[in-house]
Amino acid sequence: MSKQEVVETTEAQIAVHWKEEDYYYPSSKFIGQANLTDPDIFDRFSLDNFPDYFTEYADLLTWYKSWDEVLDSSDAPCYKWFKGGKLNASYNCIDRHLKNNKNKTAIHFVPELEQERVDHITYQELYVRVNEFASLLRKTAGLKRGDRVTIHMPMSAELPITMLACARLGVIHSVVFGGFSASACADRIVDSNSRVLITMDAYYRAGKLLNHKVHADEAVRISAEQGQVVDKVLVWQRYPGKYSSDTPMKGGRDIFVNEELKNHYGARIAPEQMLSEDPLFLMYTSGTTGKPKGCQHGTGGYLAYVTAMSKYIQDIHPEDVYWCMADIGWITGHSFIVYGPLALCASSVIYEGVPTYPDAGRSWRIAQELDVNIFHTAPTAIRALRKLGPEEPAKYNYHFKHMTTVGEPIEPAVWKWYESAVGKGEAIIVDTWWQTETGGFLCSTVPGIKPMKPGSAGPGVPGIHPFILDADGIEIKDVGIAGNICIQNPWPGMFQTIWGDRERFVKTYFADICRDPKSKDWRDWPYLAGDAATMAEDGYFRILGRIDDVINVSGHRLGTKEIESAALVVEEVAEAAVVPVSDEIKGKVPDLYIALKTGVVPTEALARKISDAICDQIGKIAKPRKVWLVPDMPKTRSGKIMRRVLGAISNRGDVGNVMTLANPEIVEEIRIMVQDK
Ligand code: WTA
Repeated sequence: MSKQEVVETTEAQIAVHWKEEDYYYPSSKFIGQANLTDPDIFDRFSLDNFPDYFTEYADLLTWYKSWDEVLDSSDAPCYKWFKGGKLNASYNCIDRHLKNNKNKTAIHFVPELEQERVDHITYQELYVRVNEFASLLRKTAGLKRGDRVTIHMPMSAELPITMLACARLGVIHSVVFGGFSASACADRIVDSNSRVLITMDAYYRAGKLLNHKVHADEAVRISAEQGQVVDKVLVWQRYPGKYSSDTPMKGGRDIFVNEELKNHYGARIAPEQMLSEDPLFLMYTSGTTGKPKGCQHGTGGYLAYVTAMSKYIQDIHPEDVYWCMADIGWITGHSFIVYGPLALCASSVIYEGVPTYPDAGRSWRIAQELDVNIFHTAPTAIRALRKLGPEEPAKYNYHFKHMTTVGEPIEPAVWKWYESAVGKGEAIIVDTWWQTETGGFLCSTVPGIKPMKPGSAGPGVPGIHPFILDADGIEIKDVGIAGNICIQNPWPGMFQTIWGDRERFVKTYFADICRDPKSKDWRDWPYLAGDAATMAEDGYFRILGRIDDVINVSGHRLGTKEIESAALVVEEVAEAAVVPVSDEIKGKVPDLYIALKTGVVPTEALARKISDAICDQIGKIAKPRKVWLVPDMPKTRSGKIMRRVLGAISNRGDVGNVMTLANPEIVEEIRIMVQDK
């Protein structure tokens, strides 16, 4: 990694200039009820006690058989946590709660249409539905332990039911965000070799009932072209008993789940006794190349970690009503809507639609009606809610004790509105920094112990030991100097590998900073997160943003290379370059620069065609803010496209010295084109 890269790509460097804010302290009322107030935790979780301290997390679960070894690092950096232990994630999230809490609500499903009733699913009902669907998966779809299945579903109660049914059988689920296109879904079907796709016919978004089944047909078609045959498509119905899509069902392949379930009523499936190190799920995420990576998460380590984070950082108690606004199709939803809260027997809210539909008060009405007391969302949603209705929260009678922010750096001003308006000055806030790869939180304050500081995620959570490296791989001990944040030690929630690509796993996250590639000692394999950060005097980390080719749009990760390769599919396109542009609500949005093939005339229609191609191949979330059809790309003499220069133009920043470029004159031409618009 060159020095320049660290500086160039982190426009969130602006964040470095946020001044250090004053502390906010948790109320004595919060501390009085908090799950974790023992200050000795940080001593107990010091590296001298590694890895044994993590057994405190594993002890939160119910095991069929205890582990033989806490950490097996013989294949470092692919680790096995709680090796030899046996458990089942579905048992831990459902069955073990039945004795005392079977009539308690596990899931509140809130449809987007306000005239539709909220569905309250008890733990007993969840047990019944998961068992029956597991029976269907086994007997009708022929799935068995170790198989992979792709799930392309919207926010619905059926989505966690599907995931937990897979977990019950030891089937590895790969959930694809419902807003992703058929083509993105197909890539994940092919990479994971899924022969079963689970979908839903339709769902509501911003007041419209969208046809979702259509994407399944298309995804299956594209997968087949790439050699992966999907022989069963299981279709849940948004309205059971009624088909809400006009895409025909294909005989022999497509099955209405709600009809077929009748053949499984009353079925009970004994949970498979999984090894702790058996994979639980894959979650694909964007990286530096066009191909998304399947992050493989294990069963025991992952579940222990997210349960501990839910208990100690989210402060979830069984009597809490907890609402995380993320989509289950992202890691936040997996860890903090489904697995963590349900393992703790909480009531977890699932909302189908848009937080501001039909108006800016909707989220607060949901909170009021369900008595939500723990709230979890991303800065992008907070900014949107603030912009559309800064006075709205005060109109509703809800009270949060705890709020989370996740996914992007949060500006101190936005943090303060969250604290005073949304939290009504009563709620503590945790700013949790983590990633798809990490399963659960890396940095955050422990809410009952450490004060909050707007704009800072906080220190490593108990058990995580972060440090910062400069571009040459030397540790930065000084405060306030930006570098690459790394973690010294492995932890149970960490992904096990990239599905089918151990080499890429090692190369992406470890190789650059590994002390000895042959070593089997975890101390030689620190984890490189891919984010820039600074550390303050008090040991709190401030996350500045990605140092690689990843753009964080509304808290969702998009690879610039993924967008570029989608643009290059359009035959008129010769070259494509994506740069992040700062956006008031979304954090960042992509701007797309295109050089057309010789002789092709630039037109508005062509720009639209390119933009549509990206939505088709990835999804609407990747839609460029603007497609600029430029006469040529600014390039170095060796022919490398200077994305930095394009980024500066899009962000109206300083393009710097461009005289060493092969074509410096083009810079001004592009600048006029973009900035005079
Ligand atoms: C960013 C989401 C600042 C970061 C859980 C990371 C954050 C990427 C924060 C992972 C935070 C996440 N403050 N930045 N609290 N949390 N990020 O995989 O750049 O979708 O690398 O996981 O989001 O995104 P991912």
